[in-house]
Amino acid sequence: MNYRHAYHAGNFADVLKHAVLVGLIESLKQKSKPFALLDTHAGSARYSLTSVEAMKTREFASGIQPLLGMTQLPAALHVYLNLVRAFNAGSGQTLQTYPGSPLIGAALMRANDRLVACELQPEEARTLKIEFRDDARVACHQRDGYEAMRALLPPRERRGLVLIDPPFEAQLEEFASIEVALREAHQRWPTGLYAVWYPIKLRQDAEAWYRRLATLPFARILVGELCLHEPNSALRLSGCGMALLNPPYRFEHVLGEILPVLARALQQSRYGSHDWRWLRHA
Ligand SMILES: C[S@@+](CC[C@H](N)C(=O)[O-])C[C@H]1O[C@@H](n2cnc3c(N)ncnc32)[C@H](O)[C@@H]1O
Repeated sequence: MNYRHAYHAGNFADVLKHAVLVGLIESLKQKSKPFALLDTHAGSARYSLTSVEAMKTREFASGIQPLLGMTQLPAALHVYLNLVRAFNAGSGQTLQTYPGSPLIGAALMRANDRLVACELQPEEARTLKIEFRDDARVACHQRDGYEAMRALLPPRERRGLVLIDPPFEAQLEEFASIEVALREAHQRWPTGLYAVWYPIKLRQDAEAWYRRLATLPFARILVGELCLHEPNSALRLSGCGMALLNPPYRFEHVLGEILPVLARALQQSRYGSHDWRWLRHA
């Protein structure tokens, strides 16, 4: 396990993932009944954008940074950017901190909602546990996220979201692991909401992934993708996507609002693209 999210925090992939995550949590909050959030690959929660790692790649400079000055945004982006601004209050125009998925989840959750954050890498897991040591709503585990899905689903609330955001170090194997995990999760919790982040390098690989996803037994499967370059290189991360299984009602409209704004703000080449589509729609 060589992957460290500190090099990538706040990049365009985080921006898409976290904007969608915020939209999903906000829609769960439309009902008063508590929900559970299972973050299977949580990372260390809080990232310094002035760290050696972040400064080495400066990926946040073409991700979250250009978005921060924007106004008149769709609701989910507005909430997301305000949250990032709040974590940077007092640091002027300089971005110092970027909140990872568990911190975003905990910041938006209500008193009776619950977060279970899993992280396998020991140092990241230690930092994660320290971040939430005083928050009784949050349980942090150093454990395999896929194993946690088998052990913890369905949540006792019978409402909530599973965020699956692996590092994809093992590329094709990771896609296969996700597929197996989702198939098994469907047996335990067929009506759960699942959100999966995935990389896009070659168009044909993304299409093959969509064909595999479409064979899963979930009633509704929606994907949204954001590509900054034409996906024609096996080496470059040209884009990324979010696959949503059992998304909230009319969530395609949220994607339809977010994606063009992000595509415009993060544009890097004229071959960029964005799209959403149903892979299954009951
Ligand atoms: C892309 S990062 C997560 C970023 C985080 N979800 C966020 O949005 O802020 C992936 C994380 O998964 C961890 N990881 C790798 N394999 C894992 C596994 N099998 N189970 C749980 N965590 C794992 C890595 O150490 C890394 O911190």
